[in-house]
Amino acid sequence: MKPTQATFPATRLRRQRKSPALRALVAENTLGPGDLIWPLFVRDGEGVEEPVPSMPGVVRRSVDKLVEVAREAHALGIPAICLFPYTGADKRTSDCAEAWNPDNLSNRATRAIKSAVPDLAIMTDVALDPYSDTGHDGFVVDGEIVNDETVEALVKQAMSQAEAGVDIIGPSDMMDGRIGAIRTALESGGHHNVLLLSYAAKYASAFYGPFRDAVGASGALRGDKKTYQMDCANSDEALRCVARDLAEGADMVMVKPGMPYLDICRRVKDEFAAPTFAYQVSGEYAMIQAAAQQGWIDGDRAMLESLMAFKRAGCDGVLTYFAPAAARALQ
Ligand code: PBG
Repeated sequence: MKPTQATFPATRLRRQRKSPALRALVAENTLGPGDLIWPLFVRDGEGVEEPVPSMPGVVRRSVDKLVEVAREAHALGIPAICLFPYTGADKRTSDCAEAWNPDNLSNRATRAIKSAVPDLAIMTDVALDPYSDTGHDGFVVDGEIVNDETVEALVKQAMSQAEAGVDIIGPSDMMDGRIGAIRTALESGGHHNVLLLSYAAKYASAFYGPFRDAVGASGALRGDKKTYQMDCANSDEALRCVARDLAEGADMVMVKPGMPYLDICRRVKDEFAAPTFAYQVSGEYAMIQAAAQQGWIDGDRAMLESLMAFKRAGCDGVLTYFAPAAARALQ
């Protein structure tokens, strides 16, 4: 039966989906290893690879093992890794002094990786939570997370990371004024080429749970982080955070978590046209891995689909625990 003029669809969008070749031709976005930043957990010891139970496939590594995966990351075409130290209760103090110890775990790892794989970019995290006995990102005085005293400590932490040789510093603490303070210290301390990737729009989120296990903060954390991380009800506020951090000297900005906040990624990219990243956080990773382990979804396809969503939302790159698996799938 031949369709009549009146009944055939005027626009057949299915034509362009007919074959892999045509789909490739009209693809609006691309995803490659170059879009990925790989977050890695570092712990003390030697030859250690210790699984994180709530993040299947993720391990905490001692520095020597970290150097091996840094080589692997570089070989896979992943441009950057991001270091997070796991700190035992013995190194957590109320003054958080370990945060700016030139020989702390993060700084030792940075030096070891830089000398072994100089072309791989290293990002580090600025926040006090790996070093505080309260699990908070700032100092706690009379139940309040104090801002300005915390910023002074964050500056010392950032400077010790710059001295160790990091390429990118990522303040994830959400204190007010820290980007400007760190930028000023970097400039006057001879580190004008160190980039700042501000966790500008970071929400108080249930999706950070597995990460807090991974860095040993779950047991320590008292209360929640709602007086400094953003309320999930807000999106205009995210734009104000980003505007402020760019004005204070951030080179790049981040939205965190990722998948539940793709609307924020899009607004930030449209408004500022700055390098924009999203953090597909531990809970997002854990959800996909858990469902895949149950056989309820195809893990590899869900991984790649979730990562492409960030590109579609306007992100230039994604911090993701899937980085090595995704880079392999995309070779
Ligand atoms: C803390 C920090 C957190 C994450 C990165 N840096 C947790 C928090 O704010 O409590 C979470 C990352 C993840 O969940 O994968 N400075």
